[in-house]
Amino acid sequence: MKNELKKYFIITYGCQMNEHDSEKLAGMLEGIDYQKAGQVEEADIILLNTCTIRENAELKVFGKVGELKRLKENNPELIIGVGGCMMQSKKAVQQLYEKHPQVDLIFGTHNIHHVPDLIQRIEKERGRIVEVWDEEEGLIPDLPSVRESDFKAWVSIIQGCNNFCTYCIVPYVRGRERSRPLKEIVSEVERLAAEGVKEITLLGQNVNSYGKDLEEKVDFADLLQELDKIPGLQRLRYMTSHPRDFSNKLIEVIKDSRSVCEHFHLPIQSGSNSILKKMNRGYNREKYLELVNKIRQEIPEASITTDIIVGFPGETEEEFQETMELVREARFDSAFTFIYSARTGTPAAKMEDQIPEEVKKDRLNRLMTLQNQISLEKNQEDLGKIVEVLIEGESKNNPETLMGRDRRNKLVIIPRAEGVIGEIVKVKINRVQSFTLYGEVV
Ligand code: 5AD
Ligand code: SF4
Repeated sequence: MKNELKKYFIITYGCQMNEHDSEKLAGMLEGIDYQKAGQVEEADIILLNTCTIRENAELKVFGKVGELKRLKENNPELIIGVGGCMMQSKKAVQQLYEKHPQVDLIFGTHNIHHVPDLIQRIEKERGRIVEVWDEEEGLIPDLPSVRESDFKAWVSIIQGCNNFCTYCIVPYVRGRERSRPLKEIVSEVERLAAEGVKEITLLGQNVNSYGKDLEEKVDFADLLQELDKIPGLQRLRYMTSHPRDFSNKLIEVIKDSRSVCEHFHLPIQSGSNSILKKMNRGYNREKYLELVNKIRQEIPEASITTDIIVGFPGETEEEFQETMELVREARFDSAFTFIYSARTGTPAAKMEDQIPEEVKKDRLNRLMTLQNQISLEKNQEDLGKIVEVLIEGESKNNPETLMGRDRRNKLVIIPRAEGVIGEIVKVKINRVQSFTLYGEVV
């Protein structure tokens, strides 16, 4: 019987929020009797869940859609759907619709719960459907999801973003901030913990805004405190934080908690006060460093990571050097570094003095070289240390080894025979690189 079910294949681009949305899409497809295809070629329906944060993300999507044309030629019954953040742009939708007739369905970020209906309509009537909403209608309802992992799960706590950093497209594609009621989150986490999930990551574009739009008087720190009480749950993570909104209360709660991991991802974006101002970030380098120091004082074992953009419009070599200097001062455990990408519709895209591509690339290279050196030095401090690792799976490059993450979110590799996927083990670190720790189970 099972083999007669039609098959789906979902390709996801972008952040954890999108990965989680894809789990919900999978859940809904299974609800209308589809099963997951092992390979894209076997699928009766292919969905692309897109990202628009940088131009690169969009280029990848167009490339993939072009590739899928061949599958459609072999199988005219195949349904191809494209959804997610990129589809909130009218221009992208128009381009996709006009140049790629192989695409049957286009949907946005605010109506993923309609996807099963839209698919069923296409199955019945054939023909193409574009359904993108400009605005959210409250929260996207709770949807069943098919989890990628048995022991790790994502839980959405707040959707949307009100910050309007001048470079960022997210507020335009994900709408305004909408928090989920505390009770709902607590019961979802309780259910997941009871199912054996060991690590939960709370998701939101700005988790520190949690609760501001709710009638009940709760904030993100209160939420963490509540979730920390849930038995069985071993690790609680969250992303993304805004340094401006990271309160002392929150640091205290994390310090006193059992399950909240000692990892702080605090995107700085730039080390230059003039650039931070043009980015509308709401803090300066002094405030940021103060926060970093406070965290290190209260929770000395914590790891601190960041995101940095180089080549924001008007960024001078001096301003870039201020970022380099900040990186030397903050000594991040690791950093995601990005070349500024102009996003149509954002204020920064209209700013004068866009930086030439070669200058941006050169700055990125210098920044990465510096950060890699610091990451290596930081990791060297871990030699001989014992860390707690949740084993996630086979490591990418070597089937003889397993990979996992410690509480600080550092990637740890152990010999295959020493661990079981989904289990938490203690590992003694005996070798390190910039991005990886190697060790043996003790
Ligand atoms: N160009 C380059 N990087 C960007 N980011 C967000 N918008 C842009 C953009 N237009 C980066 C920020 C953010 C991360 C998720 O992506 O550093 O923290
Ligand atoms: Fe995630 Fe933003 Fe990309 Fe959407 S545009 S997938 S919210 S990073």
